[in-house]
Order: sequence, then C-alpha cells, then structure tokens
Amino acid sequence: MRSFYFAAAMGLAVVYVSCQTDAGKPGNADTVKSGAAGNTVDSGKPGDAATPSISGSVERGHYLVDVIGCGDCHTPKKMTAAGPVPDMSRYLSGYNAGVPLGKYDTGLANGGSWVLFKGDLTAAAGPWGVTFSANLTPDGTGLGGWTADNFRRAIKEGKYKGLADARPLLPPMPSDNLAKLSDEDVMSIYAYLKTIKPVRNLVPAAILNPPPGGH
Ligand code: HEC
Repeated sequence: MRSFYFAAAMGLAVVYVSCQTDAGKPGNADTVKSGAAGNTVDSGKPGDAATPSISGSVERGHYLVDVIGCGDCHTPKKMTAAGPVPDMSRYLSGYNAGVPLGKYDTGLANGGSWVLFKGDLTAAAGPWGVTFSANLTPDGTGLGGWTADNFRRAIKEGKYKGLADARPLLPPMPSDNLAKLSDEDVMSIYAYLKTIKPVRNLVPAAILNPPPGGH
C-alpha cells in the first residue's frame, strides 16, 4: 500500500524534475505557433509570462481530448438500456457535486490492493484517499478563472489548480503521461476547453489520507 502511494508520488516528483531540466533546451522554446487563423487562442493573458506566444488549435485540442479520453473520468455517465453513456449535458464538468459519494469499502481502498471507482468513473478511492475528477468547463467553478499558465502547470507539472506551490495531482489523473504532451498540444487542449459549454459544478475537495510514514 505504501509503496503504491509512494510510487505515484515519486512518479510525479520525477516528472517535475525532468520538466524543470528540459525547460531551457533548444527546441523547447516558447515560440511554437499552430493552428489555422481564426481557430486559435492566444495564451497571452496577464500572468501568462511563461507561455507568451504559444497558441493552440481548438480543432487539435478537441481531437486530443477525444483520443486521450479525458471524458472517461471527467464526464459523468448516465445509465441507458445499452449501458452507461457520457452525460453530454454535463460534458467534462467533473464529479457531480449533487451526487452523494455513497458507501465503499474503505478497507480495500486504503489497503492498496484495490482502487475503487465510482460507477461513472468520476471519483476514485485508493491508498491516497478519494479524488474527484475536476470540472474542466469554462465556468467559474471550473477552469473559468484559470490562466493558460495555470493550465500548462497543471498538465505539465501535475500541480493542483496549476499553482506552483500546490500539492501534486493524485491518481487516477494520468499526470506523468500528460506531462509528455508538447506545449503546443497543451495549449490546444486549453483552447478547446474554453469553447465547451460552461457547467456550474463545484467539485468536492479530495479526501486525503495521511502520507505514508505520517501519523
Ligand atoms: C483516469 C482518469 C482521468 C483521466 C483520463 C484524466 N483525468 Fe484529469 N483528473 C482526474 C482526477 C481524479 C483529478 C483530480 C486529482 C486530484 O484531486 O488530485 C483530475 C484533475 C485534473 C486537473 C486539475 C484540476 C484542478 O482543479 O487542479 C486538470 C486540469 C485535468 N484533470 C485535466 C485533464 C485533461 C485535459 C485530461 C485529458 C487530456 C484528463 N484530465 C484526463 C482524472 C482523470
């Protein structure tokens, strides 16, 4: 149990270090431009000094979100005769704050031999505690107040709310995989997420277990 928690934390730490060292390499310059005219979003808002000139393509962002499957965890599902399907009225709006978490086997989850998912995959319980998938829509309860730089830091450095001194994002958010996205792709995803329907939904804070070795 502890080793699993630890592996997740260490993975994030390694990603964080490698992002730091890669930052100044040639070819990683902050000058990538992409996307057809009229289909781009400039990240150059105030406070976006780190990524002043990278723009993303909404179309590419849509493609990446579909293919990576962000919605598997970030879109609630509704049950149909054919099984669960994404609830597109709540597309990418994260764990529905109006739905009680319900009972689950804390012994199994805390023990680390199982990771338990809520039936629609928007919450997960494991040795780290319980995490709730975030609201990625442009509402104020989602990414509405985020800068492009917050988004880049959340994806590339696995930081909660995209803040430099925040806790690492926890499983099952695939932070170490998504950190490998190019800056251009990250900005494309950001550009696309700004175009989707805002959904008001204040996702509950994660319930964090004490770190391994803690008291
Ligand atoms: C396997 C499930 C899963 C997948 C796939 C996934 N996420 Fe997440 N994501 C989560 C969970 C759970 C959290 C909350 C983690 C936490 O609280 O530490 C999260 C957190 C985030 C956050 C941070 C939100 C905040 O308030 O700090 C962002 C941004 C994010 N995800 C974007 C994405 C994007 C974009 C994709 C696809 C490219 C994606 N996620 C794919 C489960 C997932």
